[in-house]
Amino acid sequence: MTGIGFDDRAISRRNFLHGVGGAALICSLEGPSRLLSRGGSTSAGKRAQARKRLAPFARDLPVPPVAQPVSTAGGVDAYEITMRPGSMQILEGEPTEVLGYDGIFPGPTIRARRGRPVTVLQRNQLANGEDAVVHLHGGINAPEFDGHPDDVIPPDGEFTYRYENQQRGATLWYHEHGHGFTARGVYQGRAGMYIIEDDYDSKLDLPQGEYDVPLMIADRSFDEDNQLVYPGEIPIDGFYGNTLLVNGAVAPRMNVKRRLYRFRILNASNVRTLELALSSGAPLTQIAADSGGLLPRPHKRNAIALCPGERADVVVDFRYYTAGSEMSLVNRVGGESVRKVMRFDVVRGGRETARVPKRLRGEYLLPSPSTVRTFPLGFQADPPPGQWLIDGKIFDHDRIDVQPTLGTTETWRFVNDTVSMHPMHAHLAHFKVISVNGRRPHPAERGMKDTVAVWPNQTAVVRPYFTHHTGRFVYHCHALEHGDHEMMAQMQVVA
Ligand code: C2O
Ligand code: CU
Ligand code: CU
Repeated sequence: MTGIGFDDRAISRRNFLHGVGGAALICSLEGPSRLLSRGGSTSAGKRAQARKRLAPFARDLPVPPVAQPVSTAGGVDAYEITMRPGSMQILEGEPTEVLGYDGIFPGPTIRARRGRPVTVLQRNQLANGEDAVVHLHGGINAPEFDGHPDDVIPPDGEFTYRYENQQRGATLWYHEHGHGFTARGVYQGRAGMYIIEDDYDSKLDLPQGEYDVPLMIADRSFDEDNQLVYPGEIPIDGFYGNTLLVNGAVAPRMNVKRRLYRFRILNASNVRTLELALSSGAPLTQIAADSGGLLPRPHKRNAIALCPGERADVVVDFRYYTAGSEMSLVNRVGGESVRKVMRFDVVRGGRETARVPKRLRGEYLLPSPSTVRTFPLGFQADPPPGQWLIDGKIFDHDRIDVQPTLGTTETWRFVNDTVSMHPMHAHLAHFKVISVNGRRPHPAERGMKDTVAVWPNQTAVVRPYFTHHTGRFVYHCHALEHGDHEMMAQMQVVA
């Protein structure tokens, strides 16, 4: 599993230009193979490298445990989670230390029900002396529970978040959001799935139960002792791992019966974009995207691109394959080492009752936009290693950038004048993507979303809907290192 993609190379070159190089950075950005070859490859080094790399498709897909409420009194599902160190068997040999929710990566999956509130008591037992903030990405929640970067849980502290779950069924996720340590915190393992189930969804005959499987995909790099490597300085362009994990496992395999499966795919990588496809050439049937949940109708797609933070729910029909056949989910962009995502091994079994209906769910109807705002996305070199800008400004938690009115929509134009892709994300306000460089997006991208990829020289026009809550919320770039390097701003939703 060697080979560095164009993206990785570009990044490391730029970092050297920014002058934040150094042995640790070389190692973490490019993996041990480069480091070894720089000093002449030794056979001991090669053996060490072989030991730590798992052959692809050697392990069964792990599915994160579903969190169990400690109480359901008063119709509220109350959960308790402890952020703490833990060790995971990710590679062969030494376990990998993580700083995760309940000490695991991914954290426990929370399955919520629309209309039924959830509380999550989060305890900071990270034992690294650092604050923590938990944000529910894609959730429509009151500002005090949204995980604003200012609202930290200090070491040994705790906080109870309350999520109302009034929105439609959708695939959300919760993750670290402390300003300046989001990238590192997520990388260390603080990310979990949060699925809102909805009576409407449940009645549609879509695959359910064990046939409804979350897939959290994220890239990581490991050192010779199987530990996660991350640069001491937050790399301005973002950190690319050289290994893809699915639910915390390297290129796992999964036995699938000859029936339909729903996969809820999340790209939880810090900065890496994925382009997912089936090796058989069969299409993926996308039924949902981001926080909007079910699309008006299903869309068969040969490949689905997911920038950091984005989700796609897809249905794969394994009845087209004979028992004993196998096919993989591949990533079509990036280096060789991040191309194999996972493999499906088709086994006998089960009469299928699930199906994908031709019509899924009615569209969201939004009021007409009241205001047009343009947000140039920029970069400034000073002070080193530089800072990312929204509308010419770095993040300032004392400044309110926009004041939208509750119950309205606006037109937001993100204009990317930089050489990097920026996955722009808003808290609270889900948006419709109206156009990208003047063109309408693919129909599967026209539902309510919370994250949109804005590539260099692109202008993405979105229509956010400010609903349910007044108060202060952030919007930011979801390339996590860009966010940590100040690519964040604030809105105050007013009545
Ligand atoms: Cu998933 Cu403010 O982030
Ligand atoms: Cu968010
Ligand atoms: Cu960015």
